[in-house]
Amino acid sequence: MRAICPGSFDPVTHGHIDVIARAAHLFDEVIVALGRNSSKDYLFTVEERVAMLTEATAGMPGVRVGLLDGLLVDYCRDEGVDVIVKGLRFAGDFEFEVQMAQMNHALSGIETIMLPTSARWAHLSSTIIREVAKLGGDVADFVPDAVAERIRAMQA
Ligand code: PNS
Repeated sequence: MRAICPGSFDPVTHGHIDVIARAAHLFDEVIVALGRNSSKDYLFTVEERVAMLTEATAGMPGVRVGLLDGLLVDYCRDEGVDVIVKGLRFAGDFEFEVQMAQMNHALSGIETIMLPTSARWAHLSSTIIREVAKLGGDVADFVPDAVAERIRAMQA
């Protein structure tokens, strides 16, 4: 089965990588799809986010990075995706994720599977990483090396 892990990945964190790796154990193939949430302002450009995701997932068998431009369900149809996989940290995530899962199911019949984030990374969010990074903090423990290097360059 082919799964998709969609997200903004601004930037990708260890929490995302944890969910992607676990999805890769469950499914034959995983597409990590960089999507655009029209209500968000991004720190990194699409090209930077794709580059960081590609570096961070290199060496993960069956995982590839894609660019999602438009509706997720259209992308899933075009790429033959069977299931959407999302990570859940806490109850706050659940509310919005359930709404999106229900909408995607209503639009196309596709199912969403939600994986609880590993406790180790449950405190992470790209929003908080961006905030700490912008204020000069060290985020190297929370993000893949490809991201930490870019953030260091940005802070220099
Ligand atoms: O990391 P994020 O910001 O929570 O990711 C949100 C994302 C990109 C997965 C979501 O906005 C999405 O699926 N965008 C694609 C456009 C779409 O299909 N929107 C309707 C979702 S019900």
